[in-house]
Amino acid sequence: MSYPESHYLSPVWRDGLFNGKVAFITGGNGTICSMQARALVRLGANACIVGRNVEKTDKAAKDIAAVRPGAKVIGIGACDVRNAEHLKNAADRCAKELGGIDFVIAGAAGNFIAPMDGLSTNAFKSVMDIDVLGTFNTIKATLPHVLRSPTPRIVYVSATFHYTGLVMQSHVSAAKASVDSLMASVALEYGPRGVNSNVIAPGAIEGTEGMERLGGSAAKKPGNALVREIPSGRMGTVRDIADATVYLFSEAGSYVNGHSLVVDGAAWRRQPAF
Ligand code: HXC
Repeated sequence: MSYPESHYLSPVWRDGLFNGKVAFITGGNGTICSMQARALVRLGANACIVGRNVEKTDKAAKDIAAVRPGAKVIGIGACDVRNAEHLKNAADRCAKELGGIDFVIAGAAGNFIAPMDGLSTNAFKSVMDIDVLGTFNTIKATLPHVLRSPTPRIVYVSATFHYTGLVMQSHVSAAKASVDSLMASVALEYGPRGVNSNVIAPGAIEGTEGMERLGGSAAKKPGNALVREIPSGRMGTVRDIADATVYLFSEAGSYVNGHSLVVDGAAWRRQPAF
């Protein structure tokens, strides 16, 4: 599917900002990550996106490549982030075909709504495995390549649920807390070798699979209760997340390391009215 550039990128960035850079993106055919990928590719990067579904991943790669003539975007399907070997093969192939890996987006995630007593051990473990083990596997597989880049950057797509805890999201909250922790450890261990490791924590982003799963169709109506509770007065957009990613990967973000960049219109800070 094609989108106008304004859907995924603000008109403030310089053309060619990421010329010669290569991005490796898990969850790359998802609603948020595919727009992050478009933004990077539009600004000059080549990219490799990995996903579980072969057809969807191939199609997403083609759609993303279409944003810039000459862009190279590889789609690697049948890649489950829970499988370290899948990821190693994907990262090695990306580096071989595109010449290295400069930027990583660890975006693959699992989510569904369930109360704690409705979660089987396996249900809890499935989300922990996708989010936490998947992030660890992504770091392990890409680090050898990333460490050769002059501008090594990693961004993890997390959430804000774990700042407070959230009903029906105990599994995701626990998983995202761990993702934030992995981000900090990478910043400390590999900062001295030039790696910047940061989380982006999206709030309620309209039109995303996550929002469909959490907010359903009610969230789409103007003036809905969810929007009224967001201090900035609107839902987030995929462009908000893509712009934050461009900032962190650009030279402007070069001293930002070990940080969680919350992009949620201050929603998580809101106290209930008394
Ligand atoms: C309770 C559930 C459940 C539900 C699945 N399970 N859905 N339990 N309520 N609604 C249980 C199953 O019964 C099973 O446990 C276990 O979870 C694993 O389910 P499977 O379907 O076998 O696993 P799998 O095929 O690996 O799928 C993983 C998944 C699925 C997480 C369950 O939803 C998935 O693939 N999701 C990936 C895509 C996704 O979620 N995208 C949204 C990301 S958005 P038993 O005991 O029966 O074996 C996002 C938003 C973050 O993360 C925050 C944004 C602000």
